[in-house]
Amino acid sequence: MTRRTVRIAMNGVTGRMGYRQHLVRSILAIREEGGLDLGDGDVLWPEPVLVGRREHALREVAERHGLTEWSTDLDTVLADDSVDIYFDSQVTSARVEAIKKAVAAGKHIYTEKPTATDLEGALDLARLAESADVKHGVVQDKIFLPGLLKLKRLIDGGFFGQILSVRGEFGYWVFEGDWQEPQRPSWNYRAEDGGGITVDMFPHWEYVLHELFGKVNSVSAHVTTHIPRRWDEQGKPYAATADDSAYGIFELEGGIVAQINSSWAVRVNRDELVEFQVDGTHGSAVAGLRSCRVQHRSATPKPVWNPDLAATESFRDQWQEIPDNTEFDNGFKAQWELFLRHITLGEPYRWDLLAGARGVQLAELGLKSSEQGRRFDVPELSL
Ligand SMILES: NC(=O)c1ccc[n+]([C@@H]2O[C@H](COP(=O)([O-])OP(=O)(O)OC[C@H]3O[C@@H](n4cnc5c(N)ncnc54)[C@H](O)[C@@H]3O)[C@@H](O)[C@H]2O)c1
Repeated sequence: MTRRTVRIAMNGVTGRMGYRQHLVRSILAIREEGGLDLGDGDVLWPEPVLVGRREHALREVAERHGLTEWSTDLDTVLADDSVDIYFDSQVTSARVEAIKKAVAAGKHIYTEKPTATDLEGALDLARLAESADVKHGVVQDKIFLPGLLKLKRLIDGGFFGQILSVRGEFGYWVFEGDWQEPQRPSWNYRAEDGGGITVDMFPHWEYVLHELFGKVNSVSAHVTTHIPRRWDEQGKPYAATADDSAYGIFELEGGIVAQINSSWAVRVNRDELVEFQVDGTHGSAVAGLRSCRVQHRSATPKPVWNPDLAATESFRDQWQEIPDNTEFDNGFKAQWELFLRHITLGEPYRWDLLAGARGVQLAELGLKSSEQGRRFDVPELSL
């Protein structure tokens, strides 16, 4: 076995996603397994170079994990020819500028979503990366979740017959910060800092719907800010200028109707933080992050509407759990591995910056739909 090293500049690793999901659960997890087996006798060894604004925070992360390379100077890291990939999990508003520099330096790009705060910016990145002939990928982690992989298995196996509709519920209560600390960073609630649940979640819904059910043809959304005042990391009150709830209806290829509620002002009364119910002519399923339950047409009860009688059966107990039948890896790691294979072996990879731009497009059209009280078609994007 020959060990090949790939050097990855990782910008934003002191943040929630960058640290836990990308550094610890993906890159360091690959190293703990001895590297990525490329199947041709070679093993790929990812070598992270931590990049960020705060030296003490970077050093602390590096020392905690026995890493030796970190820098607060992105330009110098990008000028280093031995660095192959630039990864970005910074706050969204800082992303475009940094990726542009990385493309200009000839690095392959892997980035968190949304790729930009508006469609023009997102398309610009996709075009720049294509013309510079660098490889590029965007995090689309939800389709690698066990629950959604099981849903995909059901779709591929023809379980649903004709799929009619999808109902998604996402969200949980994010504390305001006055009497209990908020569990998400405050920039998410300020539009001027790139926050908002529509720009955050519609990119996810775009690829989930597109990959599992079909392209999104139109969007109609109602977007609002239920909690207008919050308290930041320093305990200071601020105006929550970004939307914290988005109620969207999406028409998909083939006439499927998807309705997805996203909210940081909802208390959870479901089994998982996100759940999708899919109804088809032959059966239905409810998929969450990890589990997936089904009800076949042959096992569908026949309730009769009569408000004078108490329900005599427990409808939720009539669903059947889908078994794992395989081992599921962390979704972020699974996608990183595919991207690293794409870089080193040239294997196909479709979750690129153009796919990322489709997510930004859907968010932009969702916001416009809400502002204008209209439904919008979603045009096909091209470079
Ligand atoms: N794929 C997913 O499921 C998922 C989930 C949450 C967030 N995200 C995305 O990941 C990115 C990071 O989100 P997060 O929740 O980790 O945020 P975070 O606030 O926890 O981390 C942000 C990181 O960016 C750095 N940063 C750079 N410039 C900054 C600036 N001007 N102000 C503040 N911080 C700055 C911070 O130091 C930190 O390392 C966002 O683009 C977000 O949309 C993706």
